[in-house]
Amino acid sequence: FYLMPHPSNSLIEIFDRSSSQIENLFLSAQNFSSASQASAYVGRSIALLFFEPSTRTKLSFQIAAGRLGLQSLLIDGSEGTSLVKGESIEDTVLNVAAMLPELIVIRCGQDFDLTQLKSKLNLPLINAGWGASGHPTQALLDVLTLKANGRSISQEKILIVGDVKHSRVAHSHFQLAKVLGYELAICGPASFAPSEFSGRSFDNLADGMKWASTVMALRVQRERHSVVHSLESYQRDFGINRKKLQGWREDGLLLHPGPVNYGVELDLDVQRDPRCKILDQVRWGTFLRQALLAEIMTERKIS
Ligand code: NCD
Repeated sequence: FYLMPHPSNSLIEIFDRSSSQIENLFLSAQNFSSASQASAYVGRSIALLFFEPSTRTKLSFQIAAGRLGLQSLLIDGSEGTSLVKGESIEDTVLNVAAMLPELIVIRCGQDFDLTQLKSKLNLPLINAGWGASGHPTQALLDVLTLKANGRSISQEKILIVGDVKHSRVAHSHFQLAKVLGYELAICGPASFAPSEFSGRSFDNLADGMKWASTVMALRVQRERHSVVHSLESYQRDFGINRKKLQGWREDGLLLHPGPVNYGVELDLDVQRDPRCKILDQVRWGTFLRQALLAEIMTERKIS
């Protein structure tokens, strides 16, 4: 069955959705946040296959599924699965797909090809973090958080600070900024700048903050580095603390996809700053994913 054409509602990259589909998703997420909806899909299942560690994304999809009445089949790391007996990730996914869940949510490393996998499946596939290449639901929930905080997205100037090169979140923002029309700039040490980004780049944090209406800090992803970077000089030059936030615009917003290395890219004291929306992102993430699951389920019913 896996040679059948893939369904079009997969979300592997932001470009899989149009701006109007994204706007509908935001509206639906906002409706879910204020209404208690009946569980529409009791007795149906989705598969969550997390081959890389996760806290927020995994639980967020689980809670979103539960609110819709969908049950989650979960693979959480290789331990306890036949991956430890040498079964491949692809074969694992094909076997899960043969159990006919409604869709598959997957997080995996760069060494695995999601685009190729999509062509072998007759089920929608949602990218929940794929190596450094993309994490579309995170970028979408970031923008939803800004909208929920009263921002007009086409006027936003988002400064992404830090390890942009290794960040799948940043890579999804490069696409989403093109679709929704917000401005993006990056800031960090030259070795963290991705070669494919041709937009505005600041090598000084204060200059970047002056430009930005939203600052998004990223985790320094040591597990993806081939050379060791000095965390001390990173914290001094690009780490964000209350002092650096002091003179910054009062209506600025501070985001971070998590997990935060407190003491590196952010100091703990920023949690007390009212501009810091990190937990708001997590909350909106559940509604965004609920809206995405509902969107895909509705399309499946029609087709
Ligand atoms: C990120 C991820 O795993 O891509 N976190 C997340 O999903 N919220 C960012 C990171 O790992 O630094």
